[in-house]
Amino acid sequence: MTRKLAVFNMKGGVGKSTTAYNLAVGLVRFKQQRVLLIDIDPQGNSGAALGIPIWQLSVQLKDALQRRVPITEVVVTTSSGVDVVPSNITLAEEEIPISGMPGREVLLKKALAPLLEKYDFVLIDCPPNVGVFAVNALMASDGVIIPVDMAYLGLLGIRGIERALTLIREHLDHPIRIAGVLATRFDGRNNLSKEVFASLKNHFGDQMFKSMIPETVKLREAPSHSSAIFEYDPGGAGAKAYRELVEEVYQWQ
Ligand SMILES: Nc1ncnc2c1ncn2[C@@H]1O[C@H](COP(=O)(O)OP(=O)(O)O)[C@@H](O)[C@H]1O
Ligand SMILES: [Mg+2]
Repeated sequence: MTRKLAVFNMKGGVGKSTTAYNLAVGLVRFKQQRVLLIDIDPQGNSGAALGIPIWQLSVQLKDALQRRVPITEVVVTTSSGVDVVPSNITLAEEEIPISGMPGREVLLKKALAPLLEKYDFVLIDCPPNVGVFAVNALMASDGVIIPVDMAYLGLLGIRGIERALTLIREHLDHPIRIAGVLATRFDGRNNLSKEVFASLKNHFGDQMFKSMIPETVKLREAPSHSSAIFEYDPGGAGAKAYRELVEEVYQWQ
């Protein structure tokens, strides 16, 4: 059965897109999985990081959400082997019209249905808020990967994330599970990183992924070379950490 995972945190800059696209590539590369990456963030970062010219899209995710074209026509196969349903900033302009559509919370879930049998994993890169797009991502997913960066404000955001998941479970009746909380942008030379990590571990216990993503220049540079970290810096700490995450996510049921 297809495993559907949203990469979600309302805070920006925590590594959602970095995690979504590297994980997608890793699942193809090391586990020979068939992976679809959905970019439901108007910033379009995960599609761009895989080399998609996001400014030249004739169709994109918003067209499938608005039922203008079947989603099968929006899928782009990238050289990494990951299939992507891309977006760009024009998705943001559709937020109000989409919010007025009947069944607005499940537009993505419904649009995705015809694609599911083609993929082992669907990963969804979320925007940094809890608007209609993030709700669509969560409603279309079985589990959520929550990257949290090692900053004080990262910790403060946890309560908001939990509220959002409660909304999905209790008000929208969708039993989404936490696949794992991922410590990101960890800097071992920095005491704050260690303190935030300890608090996070204390709060989430077994729900934490064992993998931890270090802050590295290579992870920051890789998208500008249209490549995942496994190609851009295969021997480095970022590739090692994301490789470990691939193993953990592959095991997730
Ligand atoms: N582990 C990391 N080390 C160094 N830079 C990172 C790391 N994770 C993310 N970044 C950089 O930080 C910025 C925000 O990351 P991004 O993945 O786009 O976050 P989000 O999608 O949560 O907004 C990007 O420039 C990205 O390259
Ligand atoms: Mg992002």
